[in-house]
Amino acid sequence: MTAPESEGTTLRRAVCPGSFDPITNGHLDIIGRASKLYDVVHVAVMINQSKKGLFTIDERIQMIREVTADFGNVEVESFHGLLVDFCKQRDIPAIVKGLRAVSDFDYELQMAQMNNGLSGVETLFVPTNPTYSFLSSSLVKEVATWGGDVAHLLPPTVHEALVERLAQK
Ligand code: PNS
Repeated sequence: MTAPESEGTTLRRAVCPGSFDPITNGHLDIIGRASKLYDVVHVAVMINQSKKGLFTIDERIQMIREVTADFGNVEVESFHGLLVDFCKQRDIPAIVKGLRAVSDFDYELQMAQMNNGLSGVETLFVPTNPTYSFLSSSLVKEVATWGGDVAHLLPPTVHEALVERLAQK
């Protein structure tokens, strides 16, 4: 539930950024947990002009909106450029990221320190649910491309969309 914004009350906002091509149960777990900690969670879908995704940005946004609707305080948008600018424009002081394993940590730490140095935005790391510690959108797409079963790793509507998209290829 979103707290009312009145005089003297500032909504606590955080952003969960990513490519989300497509959103997985791992992403959803992190967004859901962030939505319990903050008044508003912004999901920021990065537009990467140099990389053609399996799903368009609009398709990704639509899928994320559908599967996060029940949280009640999640806003989904795309962005290009620097994440810190997205945060500045919306008064977001915190980035929430899932950490799957130690191997994620090096790069995530670098980004967190860079973002903090650029604008003072903080990064909070949430340990991924161990059920999803091996999970990534790329791996899901690869396994599904070769007929592997990934139904348990994605929200049902996203799984349907993935199977349909791969069948068109
Ligand atoms: O799901 P991904 O592809 O691992 O997400 C990466 C993302 C979007 C979080 C990261 O690439 C990012 O923040 N990009 C925005 C550009 C930016 O701000 N770069 C400087 C990072 S220090």
